[in-house]
Amino acid sequence: MKIRYFLTLSLLAFVVVACQEKYTPASYNEGINITPKPLEVKENEGSFFVNEETTFVTGDDERIQQVADFFASKLKKSTGIALQSQSEIKENNFILLTLDSNLSLNEEGYTLNSTNKGVSIKATSPKGIFYGLNTLMQLLPAEAESQSLVNNINWSIPAVEIKDEPRFSWRGFHLDVCRHFISLEEVKKHIDMLSIFKINKFHWHLTEDQGWRIEIKKYPQLTTVGSTRVEADGSTHAGFYTQEEIKEVVAYAAERYIDVIPEIEMPGHALAALSAYPELSCNEGPFTPRIIWGVETDVFCAGKDEVFTFLEDVIEEIIPLFPYEYYHMGGDESPKDRWKTCARCQNRMKKEGLHDEHELQSYFMTRMEKVLKKHDKKMIGWDEILEGGISSSANVMSWRGEEGGIAAANAGNDVIMAPGAWMYLDKYEGDYKIDPVTIGGLLPIKKVYNYEPIPADIDSSKAHHVLGAQTTLWSEYIYQEELSEYRMYPRAIALAELTWTAKDKKDYKDFERRLNNQMVRLDGHDMDYYIPMPEGPTSQIAFIDSAILEFKTPRPVDRMVYTTDGREPNLDSRVYQEPLVFRSDATLKIASVLPQGKMSRIRTISIEKQELSAAVETKALKQGLVTKTAYGKFLNTSDLEGVMEWQEKPLDSLAQANTTLYWGFVIDENQFRAEVIEGYINIPEDGVYFFSSNQDQVWIDDALVINNDGYVKRFSQNDGSKALAKGLHKLKVIYLNNVYRGWASDWNTIEVQIRKSTHEDFQPITADMTFTNGTAALLTSN
Ligand code: ACM
Ligand code: ZN
Repeated sequence: MKIRYFLTLSLLAFVVVACQEKYTPASYNEGINITPKPLEVKENEGSFFVNEETTFVTGDDERIQQVADFFASKLKKSTGIALQSQSEIKENNFILLTLDSNLSLNEEGYTLNSTNKGVSIKATSPKGIFYGLNTLMQLLPAEAESQSLVNNINWSIPAVEIKDEPRFSWRGFHLDVCRHFISLEEVKKHIDMLSIFKINKFHWHLTEDQGWRIEIKKYPQLTTVGSTRVEADGSTHAGFYTQEEIKEVVAYAAERYIDVIPEIEMPGHALAALSAYPELSCNEGPFTPRIIWGVETDVFCAGKDEVFTFLEDVIEEIIPLFPYEYYHMGGDESPKDRWKTCARCQNRMKKEGLHDEHELQSYFMTRMEKVLKKHDKKMIGWDEILEGGISSSANVMSWRGEEGGIAAANAGNDVIMAPGAWMYLDKYEGDYKIDPVTIGGLLPIKKVYNYEPIPADIDSSKAHHVLGAQTTLWSEYIYQEELSEYRMYPRAIALAELTWTAKDKKDYKDFERRLNNQMVRLDGHDMDYYIPMPEGPTSQIAFIDSAILEFKTPRPVDRMVYTTDGREPNLDSRVYQEPLVFRSDATLKIASVLPQGKMSRIRTISIEKQELSAAVETKALKQGLVTKTAYGKFLNTSDLEGVMEWQEKPLDSLAQANTTLYWGFVIDENQFRAEVIEGYINIPEDGVYFFSSNQDQVWIDDALVINNDGYVKRFSQNDGSKALAKGLHKLKVIYLNNVYRGWASDWNTIEVQIRKSTHEDFQPITADMTFTNGTAALLTSN
């Protein structure tokens, strides 16, 4: 018995040792991956292993104990190890946390020393200790962030000496929860991520034209009326946070050393509030929360004292909810149209000696700043608050560019840099033909990373007025809340590094390497982040003899995998190595794979062998087109079935079918209609042609080549192609003048673009390429 027992034990010990010797970390766990990158890291020999006997040594400071408990609870989930705390120093196996006011580091800085024996973290404040432990998490394998138990991992920390502190005190993230409401749970999930990357400000954009999202007890209609909008398709979009929920989020953020800055928009972007209380506008409504994106003309009246009373009351109610010193009062994009014709606003200007409506806006914002000051709070506003002058104490958030921030810092005001070109995460991260629809523009992570928050035009003696930088996430196109994760990550990690890491320590190549590790941490929190997809070909490819499809990813990935038999690709699927050649019909499914084995969304591409579609023989043609118009609310082309009344008229060009194009502010429902534009397109030579359009449908020779039904008519991803013989071909374009998911199609010029497969660039189909025989009757079906 005894011998068997001994043998078993020996065998077990042998297996354990053998396993440890054979253990090789996953590639993404190799090296030092701390992100944002610390100020100084010295790597030493050896490692420290976290196990059941490891103990936090916290002294008797309650705040340090709380920080230790926070990380113990995180580590318990992934490692299963329940780390205990004790107050006395240990010889071995310790994580020692010490406050030391003599350290020459700022309040957020820390030192971390790890050896075979243990880890020692020192800081001047509990916040510094928090960041030190955050770094300790980043020294562990990325799986330490898992929310469930991970086995077969060495929970080891390499021996290092780190000295670290942030470059900027403002490392911010802004989230718009108004255009699309974001649930409390999702907000907390974002706060968890901010915490991992040492982002310390959460700017919560709570009120908008499209929805008011915070309970105000004195004005209940703000949420009973102002938090719900009826979309153009009749569906509703609603949601708001109770004050209890707000407190819960603020406390959750505070536990992670994140300050929450509420934003109450004024004087513009206020239509949801005006829908609830129309008397606060210049012309008194009635209004409903806005259902298209963009900028609303109706704003708070600057002439009525009731408006200031209302806003003071709102501030009074939220003061107990948001303990941080900064409050954001908006100030952006506030059209002056109503103020110009409002007797009360004009009276106010006269009485206050204001020269124009910009000075009236300045009066408005300065008056609100005084309200905040009464509560010992500081005001932040978007850079439009510079118009008409600001007080010396207002903080400017520069978004339209860097100019506002430069001017304000040079004038001695504190600023936060959030210029759209670098910091607006509502832009595409990859190809707009492939990525879910956004507001537009391309913002690769490298561009975010390379942003420098102190522009050269800021006088060096004023550079300290730049508190830091901030990314923003506007939610017009966040149709599902997971898309907020897709837009934000991993780009917000670049924000973390550009605001934390010393300028001369930044290194994009190394950041890209560390990103492989950080994405596994995001996996631990089930984040649906952006993964570069195979780009190049669009989703439908016609060919005559053969099609050669070449793919690339906007950022390196481990590999691309694909199938051509209709099955979903998986990790074992064929690896893309060179351009794919097709000589017969096929369905290609292709995806990217990250180093940890996570796949991107799968792209499906239909590849079709076609004969040249014959040109049409027709006579008596002249340049132009014919359109048939039916008035009414049509959201899809299928809504046109059964429409009996069509009015027909000739057109010179496609663009002429919609010349209204003016809905900046109000929707003109009288324009809601369908245009079915018909004629012929002259194809100059035999070949395969690609078509692209934001219109609802494009038909060539009675074949549906582009179908945007069910899509936002913004940046169409539904390019189509067809093999066409030289000569005339039937063309039909369907345009629905409507509002669909916040996008007003009236904002589109009607256009179809064409390119021959052998050409790189699309050209618009111009008037000289379209012909008609004067009637639309030849094409009767939709
Ligand atoms: C803004 O993007 N309107 C601040
Ligand atoms: Zn007014």
